[in-house]
Amino acid sequence: MKINTKITEVVLRDGQQSLIATRMKTKDMTPILGKMDEVGYSSVEVWGGATYDCCLRFLNENPWDRLKTFKQSFKKTELQMLIRGQNIVGYKKFDDSVLSLFISTAAKSGISVFRTFDSLNDLANIESSIKFINQNNKHSQGTISYTTSPIHNNKYWLKLAMDIQDLGAKSVGIKDMSGLLRPYAAYDLISLLKKNLKIPIYLHTHSTTGLSDATNLKAFEAGVDNIDTSISSFSGAYGHTATESFISMLYQDNKNPYDMNLLNEISEYFKNIRAKYQKYEGSMIGTDTRILYSQLPGGMLSNLENQLKDLEMEDRFSDLVDEIPKIRKDLGYIPLVTPSSQIVGTQAMLNIKNGKRYETLTNEMIDLVNGGYGEITGKINKELKDLVNFNSSSKDKKTSLTAKEYRGEFKKKCIEKNLGNLYRNDKHLLNYILFPDISIDFYLEVIREKDERIYDLQESLGVHIND
Ligand code: CO
Repeated sequence: MKINTKITEVVLRDGQQSLIATRMKTKDMTPILGKMDEVGYSSVEVWGGATYDCCLRFLNENPWDRLKTFKQSFKKTELQMLIRGQNIVGYKKFDDSVLSLFISTAAKSGISVFRTFDSLNDLANIESSIKFINQNNKHSQGTISYTTSPIHNNKYWLKLAMDIQDLGAKSVGIKDMSGLLRPYAAYDLISLLKKNLKIPIYLHTHSTTGLSDATNLKAFEAGVDNIDTSISSFSGAYGHTATESFISMLYQDNKNPYDMNLLNEISEYFKNIRAKYQKYEGSMIGTDTRILYSQLPGGMLSNLENQLKDLEMEDRFSDLVDEIPKIRKDLGYIPLVTPSSQIVGTQAMLNIKNGKRYETLTNEMIDLVNGGYGEITGKINKELKDLVNFNSSSKDKKTSLTAKEYRGEFKKKCIEKNLGNLYRNDKHLLNYILFPDISIDFYLEVIREKDERIYDLQESLGVHIND
């Protein structure tokens, strides 16, 4: 039997995001990248919203410098990123001029596969990104954010996938962020998509509920074109099926095109790295079948757990997990993935903390109900809708700035904070647009510390470092 299913390695993005809250530093990745380049992956997933955010917020790294390192190390393997449609790598909608600038800059910096998704499956939110990715001659993957509910069925998914194909996407990805896709459902769905679509089908699922190994195997049997896995020492729990295990499902030893010794070396390397980040591990070991009901993605659960710890409310974790599906139902069964997962997660946290549901509504929740994030296909609970209307003081919709307007704003900030000509550089501008306060703090600290990060900036900053 000829095997056509290819493998994307996700340890550098989703693997570490799901298991150690995206805290892995670039310097802990660099030594192994050359070996990873030899494996024969169809792509390595290296970048996404959380990695971008965490670089600036927690790691004191410029995410574009990390991308540069990847580009230098991966000579044969394509670099892949996850993009939140119109939200790019942030949490709100941006103007097309910003989206276009981001995609062309990322494409120039080495990303060749862009997986674009919208948390509400509102295709209006991924349409422009597909167009811009195609304009840059890169692989545009339109994505289904998978969920289960009384209103989601194969007919719905097929139509969505066909519409994604019609938008000009080069492939369709099924993004099962919470591990809800059951093996036989995957077989049926992928068979249906393979029969009706001309473009390749990719599957991304998580181990959280214990189904992913079987789901990936059934997807393979249905002819899926590409599967996402993570090296074994960063697999399982909130993460993914192990790369080596999946390969072992597909191939007899004497027919295996992958070098298992090489994979073992990579796994050993990451095993040692993982030990350094122990304090960021979630408490879940093994499998959590409650996620089949709460539907929260793995990375989000470990984050909420940490937030509860900070509030000294860790004993309320199971109440929180129970509250989430209730809110989701009130919102017409939306899929839970950034930003909807954060909005629902935060609202659940407030409902639990206040002891009364919806006593406090976040602005994001109000915006979500009002359609500010996109169209919600399901029916929104009437009481919630009334509450939102009552709390919506003004209906004036803020329109997002254009890239040019942002550059003007950033220029003013640069003058005010002595940040030289940073505003002229698109990468620094994008950091500012996507994470304004955090990126200003980042640049100020680079200047204060004058450490190695400043070498990349010295020209724009107009500072001179003596070696
Ligand atoms: Co994922």
